[in-house]
Amino acid sequence: MSSANTTVVHLVLLLLVCSSSLLPRSEGRRRLASAAPPRPPIRAVNLGGWLLTEGWILPSLFYGILNNDTLDGTQLQFKSVTQNTYLAADQGGGGAILADRTQASSWETFRLWRINATTYNFRVFAGQFWGVSSTGAVVATATTPGPSETFQIVRRDGDPSRMRIRAPNGLFLQAKNKQSLTADHGVDTDWSDSDPSVFETTTVGRLQGEYQICNGYGLTDATKVLQDHWNTYIVEDDFSFVASSGLNAVRIPVGWWIASDPNPPLPFVGGSLKALDQAFDWADKYKLGVIVDLHAAPGSQNPWEHSGSRDGSQDWGTSDANIAQTVQVIEFLAARYANRTSLLAVELLNEPLAPGATLSSVKKYYQDGYNAVRRHTSTAYVIMSNRLGTNETTELLQFAGSFSGSVLDVHYYNLFTSTFTNLTVQQNIDYVKNNRSSDLATVTKQNGSPLTFVGEWVAEWNVPEASKADYQRFAQVQEDVYGRATFGWAYWTLKNVNLAWSLEWMIKNGVISLKT
Ligand SMILES: *[C@@H]1O[C@H](CO)[C@@H](O)[C@H](O)[C@H]1NC(C)=O
Ligand SMILES: *[C@@H]1O[C@H](CO)[C@@H](O)[C@H](O)[C@H]1NC(C)=O
Ligand SMILES: *[C@@H]1O[C@H](CO)[C@@H](O)[C@H](O)[C@H]1NC(C)=O
Ligand SMILES: *[C@@H]1O[C@H](CO)[C@@H](O)[C@H](O)[C@H]1NC(C)=O
Ligand SMILES: *[C@@H]1O[C@H](CO)[C@@H](O)[C@H](O)[C@H]1NC(C)=O
Ligand SMILES: *[C@@H]1O[C@H](CO)[C@@H](O)[C@H](O)[C@H]1NC(C)=O
Repeated sequence: MSSANTTVVHLVLLLLVCSSSLLPRSEGRRRLASAAPPRPPIRAVNLGGWLLTEGWILPSLFYGILNNDTLDGTQLQFKSVTQNTYLAADQGGGGAILADRTQASSWETFRLWRINATTYNFRVFAGQFWGVSSTGAVVATATTPGPSETFQIVRRDGDPSRMRIRAPNGLFLQAKNKQSLTADHGVDTDWSDSDPSVFETTTVGRLQGEYQICNGYGLTDATKVLQDHWNTYIVEDDFSFVASSGLNAVRIPVGWWIASDPNPPLPFVGGSLKALDQAFDWADKYKLGVIVDLHAAPGSQNPWEHSGSRDGSQDWGTSDANIAQTVQVIEFLAARYANRTSLLAVELLNEPLAPGATLSSVKKYYQDGYNAVRRHTSTAYVIMSNRLGTNETTELLQFAGSFSGSVLDVHYYNLFTSTFTNLTVQQNIDYVKNNRSSDLATVTKQNGSPLTFVGEWVAEWNVPEASKADYQRFAQVQEDVYGRATFGWAYWTLKNVNLAWSLEWMIKNGVISLKT
């Protein structure tokens, strides 16, 4: 290097030193900080029930739907008032509908597909739909519903669990004997126990997800209701609150149809993509990381409403085409947000459920999904969820560890299984302290690949009448234990009508404090 060049280098260095020292210190720090999203440890909150509907988080969203208790996926059992027995799909499906069961279980349970507030298809256990055969008997043989599988539900005024069902031929279904259900009863009824066309119904399950709200309202009204919800449920103040509460990221559940916004396939409606764009703007402003979480995959990776399922069927991953379609959704999200400062991670799939979601389909998808993210960003973390429904919690550990920047997501709830039914406060706390910490240690690799993420947990349990101090201890032990996850954790969720599930409420009411 010549001495003239050395002088130039010195001059440039001097200028750099001078100019940076001219900047106010905080300004310099802010610029540096804004160049990258937060790094682990991540302390995040889920924005559940915002861009992906879950009725239990905000039930009032469903109040405006006519006949909101017969949405898609509602599970009904029908007791003939004359036979005093339940309707059943013989062998679970593929044959006749009988009226001979004294007890009702899965073959006696029928899932609704809603056409409109009064018109429905009825799906049997094995997947076929009710239809009327040439002899006038109701059979479950059609694998896709058409006009001849389309029925009208007529309910008794003031006693809506009493139903009659009108067949496509205009006549009503009746159970004249236990061996058949036939479409040959006239219109007249007194709704009494002597009318074979009257059924007493019991609802044994319902879904309140995105499919249900969209199809329940119909395109026009659903667009209005959801647009209003997206605009008002999570606003800039919420991001400000999250940032000022000691959190550094948000995990945002989305559904696969967001990739075809503004015109997703029916019944889904457009507009959620704009809301997600807005979330990135606010995250930038408040220096929060964003974890984009594909929570509902095409075909549904689990039977719950938050996977966008129509009726609880789980079909995700059953074909290469379905996996490729899911990868395209990830590709779309990665491409759109790769250059956003606040993009912290893309989560490929939430809670795939075994055995339907097979280990091989999940691995194939994670491989292809990872590559899709990496085509657009080398820095965003790629999060892979453990499968639920299996005790093999390390089945993905080595596989996930072979990708750079990968994270394994595990969800820890002291709920939902009989293990927690009768636990006391102290037993719940000990379970977290002992069992959860050992579970987490089992999936946490010393070399940090993959990192571990407790992507969902909540300070809620089955303890009746727990005190505020009990809740505080329960939250604290979880923070302590899940704080050992090498990527971090995310509370489920920011807002919820069930107060312990609302981190906002828990913080504002002094149950949880995250500021250090
Ligand atoms: C249906 O909406 C009404 C209000 O119109 C509400 O009281 C009821 O709880 C809703 N039912 C369901 C199942 O959402
Ligand atoms: C509901 O759908 C059926 C079948 O398509 C149709 O005949 C009926 O008019 C519809 N009812 C309403 C209220 O839209
Ligand atoms: C990201 O890319 C889009 C499209 O190329 C561009 O409009 C936008 O300004 C970029 N944003 C940032 C923060 O660089
Ligand atoms: C999971 O359960 C199966 C069947 O009960 C058992 O054979 C297996 O050892 C268990 N695996 C683990 C990791 O506990
Ligand atoms: C919980 O306790 C009740 C009442 O003692 C008992 O009947 C039930 O079997 C227990 N359930 C479990 C899962 O332990
Ligand atoms: C929790 O861990 C303890 C040992 O620390 C063990 O005795 C107990 O069986 C575990 N409980 C469950 C439900 O796995």
